[in-house]
Amino acid sequence: MKKLGIITPGGDAPGINSAIGTVIRLSRNEKKNIIGINDGYKGLVDADFCEMKGVSFNWLMGVSGTILHSERMDSFKEEKVLKKAIKNLEEKGIEGLIVIGGDGSFRGALDLHKLSGIPLVAIPATIDNDIYGTEETIGFDTACNTALEAINRIKDTAVSFERIFVVEVMGRARGFIALEVGIASGAEAILIPEVDSPLKEIAGGLAKARAKGKMNAIIVVAEGVKNKREIAKFLEDKTKATVRESILGYIQRGGSPTRRSRMLAVEFASYAYEILKTSPTRPKMIGLQKGEIVTIDLKQSVEGYKEIDLDRYKLHRSLSNIY
Ligand code: F6P
Repeated sequence: MKKLGIITPGGDAPGINSAIGTVIRLSRNEKKNIIGINDGYKGLVDADFCEMKGVSFNWLMGVSGTILHSERMDSFKEEKVLKKAIKNLEEKGIEGLIVIGGDGSFRGALDLHKLSGIPLVAIPATIDNDIYGTEETIGFDTACNTALEAINRIKDTAVSFERIFVVEVMGRARGFIALEVGIASGAEAILIPEVDSPLKEIAGGLAKARAKGKMNAIIVVAEGVKNKREIAKFLEDKTKATVRESILGYIQRGGSPTRRSRMLAVEFASYAYEILKTSPTRPKMIGLQKGEIVTIDLKQSVEGYKEIDLDRYKLHRSLSNIY
């Protein structure tokens, strides 16, 4: 395999560039040609390729986002769209593909492989950490640290004004960031889509805590939890405290990647590069299981559902003073 392509079709996550940089350096060492595909699958369909000359590994290690840019493309499952992409890959002479992203990116990769048979290896990178087959995804650690830092700041004002804050962290459908950050920030309660929120119990606990003089509180809520406005209103009515909402939003997707996000990126990317060189007949995904870097079938990952750690959720209940 002499010419490899690399593409980042999903939401960006801190560490994606570190993974790109790793693949560039390793392929240069072995005199392989690495072709970047701009703007995710849209760029593949539009034949928007770049040679990645002059891009340095050292620089890429520390910057977030994706130098290849990203764009969502819902039509990247239609046969005529996929066929156009395949024609472009063939014309460019790309013999294998590294796909960095999350669930949506991986579905597109499977569709592409089904029609073309091109060897491909996927690297899980999303701050949501919701990919089956890996304990951690690139970017999750950085996003959690960013959210933690923000919550620490919110706590300062919560203490000063004796308020309750409902802080929303990212996770459109899942509560991995909320659970991690809720525990690590010492939040009074965590609300995640995977668990029915015991709102009455939380409100009662907060009211009791206030009666004893513990006036401030942080409730970490995942983006995917429904009716957050109503939740804040309910807590305000029941506790008689001032309840403020704070949505952390896209700051969680940026910022220089942490050591952990960088190292995971380097380890995933170097393994992906080695696996791709073997021209796997079935699409593979790199993952972290019990601390080891492993490969699993990409189809298995896409079809799987990553369970949230409910023991951790229970542990948080024991650590909080409101239950
Ligand atoms: O990167 C994952 C994620 O941050 C989700 O938690 C969030 O809902 C979503 O991406 C939003 O991204 P976009 O606006 O790019 O679709």
